[in-house]
Amino acid sequence: MTTLFKNIKELVQVREQPISFISGSEMNVLPTIKNAFLVVYNGLIADFGMMKNCPDLKVDNIIDASGKIILPAWCDSHTHIVYAGNREGEFVDRINGLTYEEIANNGGGILNSAKKLQDSSEEELYLQSKARVEEVIQMGTGAIEIKSGYGLTVEAELKMLRVIKRLKENYPIKIKATLLAAHALPSEFKNNKAGFVQLVINELIPKVANENLAEYIDVFCETGYFSVEDTELILQAGKKHGLVPKIHVNQFTAIGGLQAGIKYEALSVDHLEEMRITDIESLKNTKTMPVALPGCSYFLGIPYTPARKMISAGLPIALATDYNPGSSPSGNMNFVVSTACIKMKMTPEEAINAATINGAYAMGLEKQLGSISIGKVANLIMTKPINSFSFIPYAFGSNLIENIYLEGKMICT
Ligand code: NIG
Ligand code: FE
Repeated sequence: MTTLFKNIKELVQVREQPISFISGSEMNVLPTIKNAFLVVYNGLIADFGMMKNCPDLKVDNIIDASGKIILPAWCDSHTHIVYAGNREGEFVDRINGLTYEEIANNGGGILNSAKKLQDSSEEELYLQSKARVEEVIQMGTGAIEIKSGYGLTVEAELKMLRVIKRLKENYPIKIKATLLAAHALPSEFKNNKAGFVQLVINELIPKVANENLAEYIDVFCETGYFSVEDTELILQAGKKHGLVPKIHVNQFTAIGGLQAGIKYEALSVDHLEEMRITDIESLKNTKTMPVALPGCSYFLGIPYTPARKMISAGLPIALATDYNPGSSPSGNMNFVVSTACIKMKMTPEEAINAATINGAYAMGLEKQLGSISIGKVANLIMTKPINSFSFIPYAFGSNLIENIYLEGKMICT
């Protein structure tokens, strides 16, 4: 099956040479071809270039993209979209003055979601989660990482991860699974954190690894949640079982979790709303991708990741949604890209690099996705007629997507 996209107003994020991720000042370069063609063969990008060089091919399908922009589908490297119910009650409580921390200390927050998840059947959880996967596909996401972490018991964590596995099998979007083993301390372990960490290390991690249910290991390393020492123990155990670290750090306090992540060769360190100079220094010359989650900063009213300082220091940044019921109930990568430009002062070029190739790297998919390159999977966004790619972050809140293609096939919107 061959599809030819022709007369593309601008083909965005074209990379002829393989590239793993983009850092520092390079992030402000977004290579494009104006008036372009793109050939997709059996779901993969087979050729692209200027329209004047368009080959005379026998194709099954021709799509005229006059006036429209084509770019790689978004790569959302940090989500928690498998969850049960919602927490709009807590949202109203926050409007009325309670803080996220106060809500969590009163048994709300992650424990609230865990209770709902434990009380839901695997089927019910699958149905609720699949609706969100379908929702994010419609919004242009072509690859996504999904975490467990609302189970808080071995059984409920396995239930979450099995739901993720089923989503992987049933949807053309690429999905990566993360065992967020230590997300909050369950009430049964209220006075026994060491006991819970041991349960994670001795039971949960080996079971998940045996059933091959996750590729990454995550910990919420934060004051009042899990310490740097807890984090190190869990990352060590995860690595022993082949799980690569991707961790929550520096969301509310900077306590050294970022350095623990680097020590254990984390693929990414995520959140980073609170960044000390030393945290920026630690990330230099590493292979660890810093991931910013501006939807969470927006929703909780906490600081934004200091993108300008990080990019000036030569670091890369990836952008992700953090889609979850408590701190970022939105999986809209278009909004994330816009917010990164508006609130973090990233340029459209930087934000699009961060939400495509750098996001792909942050979930180990940079060889398959995140750029328009020959041999990569044809997960694409085709916009409505717009003037330039900067219009995408500029027109925040508008739906500018005309069609989504996953493995070269149009997904009906
Ligand atoms: O990434 N920070 C930890 N975990 C989630 C939010 C959890 C929740 O409130 O449900 C996050 O923000
Ligand atoms: Fe998160």
